[in-house]
Amino acid sequence: MHSFEALSKQFAQYFNVRHFPKEPSSLYDADEYFLSLGGKRVRPVMCLMGNELFDEISKDAWPVAAAIELFHNFTLIHDDIMDKAPLRRNQPTVHAKYGESTALLSGDVMLIVAYDYLNQVSNDYLHKVIRLFNQTAKEVCEGQQMDMDFEKQEVVKMDEYIRMIELKTSVLLAASLSLGAILGGAGQANQEHIYAFGRNLGIAFQIQDDYLDAYGDPAKFGKQPGGDIMSNKKTFLMIKALESANAAQLKELKRLMQENPEDKVARVLSVFDDCGVNKWAAGLKEKYINEAFEHLEEMAVVTSRKEPLRELAHFLVQREH
Ligand code: IPE
Ligand code: IPE
Ligand code: MG
Ligand code: MG
Ligand code: MG
Repeated sequence: MHSFEALSKQFAQYFNVRHFPKEPSSLYDADEYFLSLGGKRVRPVMCLMGNELFDEISKDAWPVAAAIELFHNFTLIHDDIMDKAPLRRNQPTVHAKYGESTALLSGDVMLIVAYDYLNQVSNDYLHKVIRLFNQTAKEVCEGQQMDMDFEKQEVVKMDEYIRMIELKTSVLLAASLSLGAILGGAGQANQEHIYAFGRNLGIAFQIQDDYLDAYGDPAKFGKQPGGDIMSNKKTFLMIKALESANAAQLKELKRLMQENPEDKVARVLSVFDDCGVNKWAAGLKEKYINEAFEHLEEMAVVTSRKEPLRELAHFLVQREH
């Protein structure tokens, strides 16, 4: 069994090559640029971990891990257009640097290259892999649409928020583990438990993402601080603040969301603080982490083999970037 660090290094050796042709450079430079910014590479490592839980890492796990990371990067390029985000991984986003048309196309072609990798999977597993990959990809689109719809909606309930982040974020983490497990020969029950582990962990991961967007250290975070507040995202922080605000605070929040003043982020944050919503994050994450760990416990695998996944889970929900 390998740690997150060890698997990250192995994955980097496999993945850090040129993935795109040279010409037209106006398109492919944007793809190579974005991949060169790195990122945590969490999902491909989860695929490798899910695979190694059952056996030595199989030949098919590498291209699937690469396909997952390419798919993830495609979603980020398009997400940054949708969220009007200027910064990612401490650098300009693709649309900010190359324009929106190139960003759309460089994302599209990255998705196609992800399928080139999937095409390397052996026939024994190909259909199963494509089925889960495609189901996941559709769910991510559904979650992203809900996220955009919620920006315009005045009231969003907490369970609608959880469903939205489950779709836009957590199913990909769950599928990464599950695809690895499928390729490792996991039985049906173990596949279901590892998926449920990833799904709950993914929810906690997005809760942390939303927390960092409001409260992260800009030097470590790598994205524009307060971006969610500026776009009226219905994160758990905003939902909780809208639920617990008194009449004056509620009026202030609604006005800030409508009028977008220069000091909007600071003023929304001060209402968040007055309502104590930041303290709520820990409890909410804990709920999903505990649920995740229950599924990890249930898996019929020697406990010591689960250690890397346990460590990864703790890192993901405490991360600062
Ligand atoms: C960002 O994912 C998008 C979310 C689902 C929150 P990551 O935080 O894994 O992004 P990178 O790949 O490490 O930059
Ligand atoms: C993005 O959620 C989820 C996907 C890209 C599918 P966010 O919009 O919160 O991700 P960041 O904060 O931009 O990384
Ligand atoms: Mg988004
Ligand atoms: Mg975003
Ligand atoms: Mg975010």
